[in-house]
Formats: sequence, C-alpha cells, structure tokens
Amino acid sequence: MYMSDQAHHWSRAAATYEADYIDPYRPDVRNPLLKALEKLASAEVRTAADLGCGIGPLLPVLAEQFATVYAVDFATGMLQRARQRCAKLTNVEFVRTSLTDLRMLAGKVDVAVAVNSLVTPDLRDLEASLRQIRAAVRPGGHFLGIAPAMDAVHYYTMLLVNRALASGQPIDKARQNAARHADHDLYDFAFGLFRYQGLDQHFWQPFEVRYWLRHSGFRRIRLSKVHLSWKQFTCGEELSDQPPPWDWFFQADG
Ligand SMILES: C[S@@+](CC[C@H](N)C(=O)[O-])C[C@H]1O[C@@H](n2cnc3c(N)ncnc32)[C@H](O)[C@@H]1O
Repeated sequence: MYMSDQAHHWSRAAATYEADYIDPYRPDVRNPLLKALEKLASAEVRTAADLGCGIGPLLPVLAEQFATVYAVDFATGMLQRARQRCAKLTNVEFVRTSLTDLRMLAGKVDVAVAVNSLVTPDLRDLEASLRQIRAAVRPGGHFLGIAPAMDAVHYYTMLLVNRALASGQPIDKARQNAARHADHDLYDFAFGLFRYQGLDQHFWQPFEVRYWLRHSGFRRIRLSKVHLSWKQFTCGEELSDQPPPWDWFFQADG
C-alpha cells in the first residue's frame, strides 16, 4: 500500500518535473556520471538498467552506449514521459515495477544506474531494493548513481548563518533567516527526510551510502561529489565565492 502511494505521488510529479526537481545534467553542474558511463561501455558490457528512470533524461545516452537498456520505474506518469522521449529508440525496454522487485532483471544487467531514485524513506524498502539491484547486476558488473545529499543542506545552512552574522544580525535571527532560505520546514534532519509535495524522500549522509552498498554486497565503493550550480539555490548568487552544494555520486562493483 505504502509503495503504491509513493508511486502515485511520483506519477503526479511527472507533469511538472523539470520545474520542481534539481537537474544533475545542466551544463553548469559538474557531474562525474556521464564520464564514468563512457568508461564502462564496451563490446562486452552490453546491458544497462536505468533504475528509477523518471522522465528519462539518461535513456538516450544509455541507448547509444549499450545494446539493451531497461528503463525501470514504478510511476506510470514518469514512464509515459520517458516513452515519449525515447519514441525513436529501438533498444530501450520499459518496465513498470518497484525497485523492491527486480526479479525479471536477475543476473541480466552489466551496468545498473540509479540517479536520485534510491530515496525511499523506509529502510526495509531500501534494503530490499539494494538486494534486488545486487541480484540484477551480473558478477563483474557495476552499480553507479547519485544520492541526494543531506550533508549539503547542513553546508548551505552554515553559509547562510554566517552570511547573516556577517551582515550584523544576532545569532537567533541569523538562524531563522537560514532556516527560511534553506526550507528547513521541509526536512527532518535526524532521520534524513525531505518532505515535498506529499512525498517523503530520504536524503543521504555519505557514510550511509557506504554502509548500505557494503551491506548489500557491493565492493570497491567509491564516492565523489556532483558539484551543483549555485543558480539552483535561493541566495546562491550571494554565496558564489564559496564552492556550491553537492549530491553524492557513487560507483561500486558487483
Ligand atoms: C527524483 S526522480 C529521478 C528520475 C531520474 N532518475 C532523473 O535523474 O531525472 C526519482 C524517480 O525514481 C522513481 N522511484 C522512486 N522510488 C522508486 C521505487 N521504489 N521503485 C521504482 N521507482 C522508484 C520515481 O518514480 C521517480 O521517477
């Protein structure tokens, strides 16, 4: 029931997705994902799966690099838009399923990708999804993706508080100002939740990415930053002398 609720919310989010969600593919975002995919694609590495493909921004790239691409999502609205985007591509196969049930992909995938889609707030679903992904990836295969970063929200908050203090505000006002600009009312920082438009999403600390990937049987876990653009943040222009906030890019072996 809970999963179908989430799928429903994500479906509704599909219509206005670009306006509401951070785009990791903008030219002013430094994102290691595309280079990493280029390095992996080869004559032997033939099958990719975009897990939680959303409206499908990555699918044309994958379709060029891999012989077969599985486009997986549990939200019908997302899959509809992804299908439209890929109307001319012949090697993309669409699968409507939750990441908690990837039986039909078991042992078939050389490269699994999950971009901002491992966001279920329920750790049992997260664990089940990662086990399913591990089982979908062939021995010697790879799993890579992006996880929304909670520590980057703390970083942004720190910069905002400091900016307000520097402009002469007392500490309580500086904190209120930061909380408003960084939308603190949408977060539960202790449990790593972001609540937006009826949807609870898990935002990650880097140690959690390492912990859960290792726990699910992945090896050689590497993390690096996706450097976002200050243009994606309110007050970003005034903070642009500092490095921008980030999300976590991860890559691991099966
Ligand atoms: C923030 S969007 C990212 C979409 C796409 N990867 C991108 O980068 O534009 C998250 C996507 O993951 C899908 N998703 C979230 N949880 C899922 C689950 N448990 N099973 C299948 N899809 C899921 C949502 O429906 C949504 O399309």
